[in-house]
Amino acid sequence: MNGALLSVEGADGCGKSTHIGFIAQWLRKRGAAVLCTREPGGTAVGESLRQILLHAAATPIADRCELLLMFAARAQHLDEVIVPALAAGKWVLCDRFIDATYAYQGGGRGIAAQDIEILEQWTHRAVQPDLTVLLDAPVEVAAARTRQRGGKPDRFEGQQADFKQAVRRVYQARAARFPQRIRVLDAKQPMAQVRAELNTVLATFWQQRQRAHEH
Ligand SMILES: Nc1ncnc2c1ncn2[C@@H]1O[C@H](COP(=O)(O)OP(=O)(O)OP(=O)(O)O)[C@@H](O)[C@H]1O
Ligand SMILES: [Mg+2]
Repeated sequence: MNGALLSVEGADGCGKSTHIGFIAQWLRKRGAAVLCTREPGGTAVGESLRQILLHAAATPIADRCELLLMFAARAQHLDEVIVPALAAGKWVLCDRFIDATYAYQGGGRGIAAQDIEILEQWTHRAVQPDLTVLLDAPVEVAAARTRQRGGKPDRFEGQQADFKQAVRRVYQARAARFPQRIRVLDAKQPMAQVRAELNTVLATFWQQRQRAHEH
């Protein structure tokens, strides 16, 4: 069976890293070759861009510059990691991907979706996630988890509540627009419940892939 590109999306602190580990385990148990990666990052140059994007508190970054840096990191990630891995039949699990760009740089920063679309088409060519798990939780819930985890807030975690609300709204709007691809999980539930829902989503997707493979 061919691999697939799975992205995990949602606000900071909603549980992406936690659940990506679970997805990787789930797939490996079924014999899939899995590669876990993240955005911005996933390559040497991408991780350097991540440092700038998340931690360059002292340097102002214009919104359009931020958007272009995100796509610069994505271009490298696609060429160096994602496209070769998919070609080799791997399952690529990506902690944030294109929907985060629309949510943060579109919703959060207010860049027009049409402008993001132009860059998306040029950068991604045909590559899109086959399945996206959106961990949706009220802004306060995600923020409380981030606080609990500790550490200094990054450039996005440090944003005001209206920025975070806008991020959530765009994520939800994209889920409504792409219901086949984006599966929304209620991430404010206890871990075991989120996991049970995730299990169902994965099982359904796995069966679909197997059926497609057999035909
Ligand atoms: N359903 C849940 N119930 C309670 N706590 C949770 C749940 N999901 C995750 N957590 C906890 O919340 C914290 C944040 O989770 P995690 O690091 O997975 O989020 P994240 O989405 O990867 O955040 P970031 O975007 O900052 O990387 C962790 O301490 C994790 O154990
Ligand atoms: Mg994380």
